[in-house]
Amino acid sequence: MKNNKFSQVLFSSLVLFSISAAAKKNEFITPHQHSFSSSQTVLMDLDKARAIGGMVLSFDESQNIAVAHLTELQMNRLITFNHATGKCGGFEALSESESLKPAQVIASFTKNQNVFNSMGLRQFNLIQFNQDYSDLANLADPASLEKTIKWISSYPHRYNKAPEPNRHVDDLARLLETELHDAPWEYAVEKISHTSTRQKSVRLTIKGVTRPDEVIALGGHFDSINQSFFGNSDKAPGADDNASGSANLLEALRLLKNWKQFDRTLEFYWYAGEESGLLGSAEIATDAKNKKKQVIAVLQLDMTLFPGSGEQVIGLVTDFTSPWLRDLLTQINSNYLKAQFIADECGYACSDHASWHRQGFHAVTPFEAVTETMNRNIHTEKDILDQRSSLTHSNTFTKIAVLFALVLGNSDLKP
Ligand code: BES
Ligand code: ZN
Repeated sequence: MKNNKFSQVLFSSLVLFSISAAAKKNEFITPHQHSFSSSQTVLMDLDKARAIGGMVLSFDESQNIAVAHLTELQMNRLITFNHATGKCGGFEALSESESLKPAQVIASFTKNQNVFNSMGLRQFNLIQFNQDYSDLANLADPASLEKTIKWISSYPHRYNKAPEPNRHVDDLARLLETELHDAPWEYAVEKISHTSTRQKSVRLTIKGVTRPDEVIALGGHFDSINQSFFGNSDKAPGADDNASGSANLLEALRLLKNWKQFDRTLEFYWYAGEESGLLGSAEIATDAKNKKKQVIAVLQLDMTLFPGSGEQVIGLVTDFTSPWLRDLLTQINSNYLKAQFIADECGYACSDHASWHRQGFHAVTPFEAVTETMNRNIHTEKDILDQRSSLTHSNTFTKIAVLFALVLGNSDLKP
């Protein structure tokens, strides 16, 4: 962490030094007739920003883009330069309010790298784009996801207090064994018993090759509940909550079978009894803490099917989650997904990520929408796959799981 900060300061000084050197060398100093009357912050080409001596606030060398603050004179230099090379525009002005609200600035930069971290501070890239990761994530298939969600939501319920709370759990463990028999890596499927509920959680462990003690966990709750007082059925299909997140994990796993090995150990969880108070995940996270397990990062997928804030608009839960992982996920998004992430408070311990957070682990949870516009049919018999569901929206969360596993499973990234 300290080394990181030191190199950032060093890097910033080098950037400032090269900007002033570029400014001294530049030749585009003739003011143009369509002059700007004040300074502006713009999204523009990095090489041009350097050439005209703009103050580069952040940049991505590989895409040749920069967010730069330009004085009136520098703005005029840019226009003169663009006109001289037969172009117009070539930059995108950022409003003052945009620059004052970092999360929105990030969200609006569909083609840009992450610019500010969650503290509103300028930051440099934690990750590099990897074509192989992108290709694998893009194999995520909404049709296959649909079949998996249909299967999981076909049980009358998956309630942890029902007479038979493990039927779907046993089926999942069997399915994993069948599907993974030809997987290229060493793995284990376990049903985890709990003291707080008769329902079991399922864990799939894929052993890391170079740093097996470091664990990247991906999970979602596999139970469902019907809490409606006025409904005329006690069915709890839980298609959105949370067959969707559970299915994203299974689909991600099917794709990751094409990846030969991981440096770190991956653990996939389908948790028991979340709806009755995060029961399964609480015991699992406590056990990990007691055993001093090195769980580096935890991804929670809970509700990914209802695009309440629009297609590809994803709520990034800010409470009971890790700023480091929120930033990392934002960078994964800007490198690979180009969805819109909106920071959003859930307001309480909404899902299993809170169990890990409570034990001091870094957890993150991207969500189907901002909570204000989330699916209101959850916990009723109406939580089914229907015309309001979006499999393309949910498919993005399969990609998130694949990329989370690849980026963190094959690196030494740490908080
Ligand atoms: N998926 C829901 C709620 C949710 C909302 C999760 C927003 C993530 C973001 C979850 O399964 C649930 O119903 N949780 C309980 C709380 C839990 C501690 C019993 C709830 O919201 O009542
Ligand atoms: Zn849920």
